[in-house]
Amino acid sequence: MGILGLGYMGLATAAAFARHGVTTVGYDVLPDRRAAVRAGMSPFHEDGLEELLQTEVRSGRLTVAETMADVAERAAVIFLCLPTPPRDDGEIDLRPIEGGAAELGRALARVDGFRVVVVKSTVVPGTTETVVGPALLGASGKTGDQIAVASNPEFLAEGRMVEDALHPDRIVVGVSHPRAAELLRSLYAVFDSPLIVVTPAGAEMTKYASNSFLALKISFANELARFAEQVGVNVDDVVRGVGSDPRIGHRFLQAGPGFGGSCFSKDVQAFARAARDRGVRLSLVEQIMTVNDAQTRHAGDLIAGQLPEGKGTVALLGLAFKEGTDDLRESRALPIVERLAGAGIEVRAHDPVSSGKFATWLQGRPVDIRDRVRICAAAEETVTGADVAALQVPWPEYLSWPSAWTRAMRHPVLVDLRRAFSEDRAAAEHLRLVRLGDGRPGVGTVPPASSGSARQGAPDAGVPRPALRAARSEGTG
Ligand SMILES: NC(=O)c1ccc[n+]([C@@H]2O[C@H](COP(=O)([O-])OP(=O)(O)OC[C@H]3O[C@@H](n4cnc5c(N)ncnc54)[C@H](O)[C@@H]3O)[C@@H](O)[C@H]2O)c1
Repeated sequence: MGILGLGYMGLATAAAFARHGVTTVGYDVLPDRRAAVRAGMSPFHEDGLEELLQTEVRSGRLTVAETMADVAERAAVIFLCLPTPPRDDGEIDLRPIEGGAAELGRALARVDGFRVVVVKSTVVPGTTETVVGPALLGASGKTGDQIAVASNPEFLAEGRMVEDALHPDRIVVGVSHPRAAELLRSLYAVFDSPLIVVTPAGAEMTKYASNSFLALKISFANELARFAEQVGVNVDDVVRGVGSDPRIGHRFLQAGPGFGGSCFSKDVQAFARAARDRGVRLSLVEQIMTVNDAQTRHAGDLIAGQLPEGKGTVALLGLAFKEGTDDLRESRALPIVERLAGAGIEVRAHDPVSSGKFATWLQGRPVDIRDRVRICAAAEETVTGADVAALQVPWPEYLSWPSAWTRAMRHPVLVDLRRAFSEDRAAAEHLRLVRLGDGRPGVGTVPPASSGSARQGAPDAGVPRPALRAARSEGTG
C-alpha cells in the first residue's frame, strides 16, 4: 500500500501498517522529509515513533519513493494523508487534497490495474466523492471502475500516536465500490480492531462528530472548573463522580487551559461551518470555540493574578499542546504567552522538545511580545528568579520537581494548569500550589454579592489525593 504525505498522521500510519507486515511505500513532497524517513529518522518528535520507523525501514517493509508516480505504480491502495488546513472563515482548505488527488490522477493515467484511493485526511462530508473522486478521474482519464475512492478517517491522537496507530479502537471505512471494500477489508485484516463499513460521507462525518464530541467534553469539564472555583469546590471532586458513570467516562472529562493541537479547533469550526452552509445550526458545536477561548483567557488571568501588582517574571513550563509531542499547532501556550507578555510580564519559556518550533513562532510576534520572552535551554534556568511557575504541559521532568527548583524561585508559587500536582507533593516541595479548577479559599456555595475579577486560585481545602497524579493532558487527534 502507499501513503502520500508523511506528516504526523501519514508517518504514524505508514509505520503501523509496516509493523503489521504490510509492504508500505511512502512519499512526501518535501525532499528533506523523504530523506529523513528513508534514514529511519522522524522529522518531528512523537514518543516512540523514531524507534518504530528504524525497525520498519531496516526490515524493508517501509520504503520511501522519490516520486508520486512510483507510489502510483507500486501500490494498489493509496492513502491520502495530506493537510486540510483551516481558512480564516472556518472552512477547510481543500486545495492541498484536491491538488494532490489531481497529481496522483496524472500519475495513474500511465498505470494499468485497479487502484483504490483512500482519503485519510479529515474532510467535510461529501469531499471524497464530490472533490477527490472527480479530481482523480478528471486527471487520469479513467473511470470509477478503474480508480475507486474511499474514506478512512484517522482517529489517532498525538502524544500517543504509535499506540493508537498500531491498535486503533475502531477502523471506520467509507466505501461504495464492492471491489474497493473487499481490498480494504483484507488490508485491515492484519489489525486486531473492529471494522465499521459505512458510506464515504458517513465515515467523513464520523470523524468530525468524534472530534467535536471530545472537544465538547473537555469544554464541559473546563466550564465546571470555572464554576467550581467560584463555589469553593475542587473540580476533581465533581468529575471523579461524573466520569465514574460508564455512560460518561473519565477520559477527556478533564479541566485544563483549553484544548490545543491541529485538529480540534479546525475540525469543530469546519463541522459547524459545513452544517451552516447546508442550513443546519449545530449550536452546541458552535459554542465550543467560545468556551475554549474563554478557558485559555482564564488560565492566563490565573497566572497573572499571582504576581504582585500583576508584574514580574513567569516561568512557563511546557510549550507544546500536550506531552509526548513537539507539535505547537494551536498550543494554549501561545495565547498565554501573548496575554502575559502583552501585559508587560516577563516570560521565560521551556519545553524539552518544542523550543525550536516555539522560537520560530516567536519570531513572527510583534517586538513588544518578543522582547519580553526568553527561551531557556533547561527547566531549572526557567524557574530561577521567577515569581510564578506555570505548568502548561505535564512533562515527566516537570513532575519530578527537584527541591532545588523551589529554592531557585523568587516566590515559590506553582500555577498548575493541568492539575498534575497534589497538595501533598507541592507542600513537600514548599510550593504554594494554585491549581486551575480548585475552589478559592473562603468561597462557599452562597452566590457572591458582586463578581469582580478577584485573585484566583490558592491551595484548596485539603481533599486527599494521590501524591502525584498520573497526569495526561487530553488533546487532539
Ligand atoms: N495530526 C494528527 O494527530 C491527526 C490525526 C487525525 C487526523 N489528522 C488529519 O490528517 C491530515 C494531515 O494532518 P497532519 O497533522 O499529518 O499534517 P502534516 O502537515 O503534519 O502532514 C501533511 C504532510 O503532507 C505533505 N504534503 C503536502 N502536499 C503534498 C503532496 N501533494 N504530495 C505529497 N505530500 C504532500 C506535507 O509536506 C506534510 O509532510 C489532516 O487532514 C488532519 O486533520 C491528523
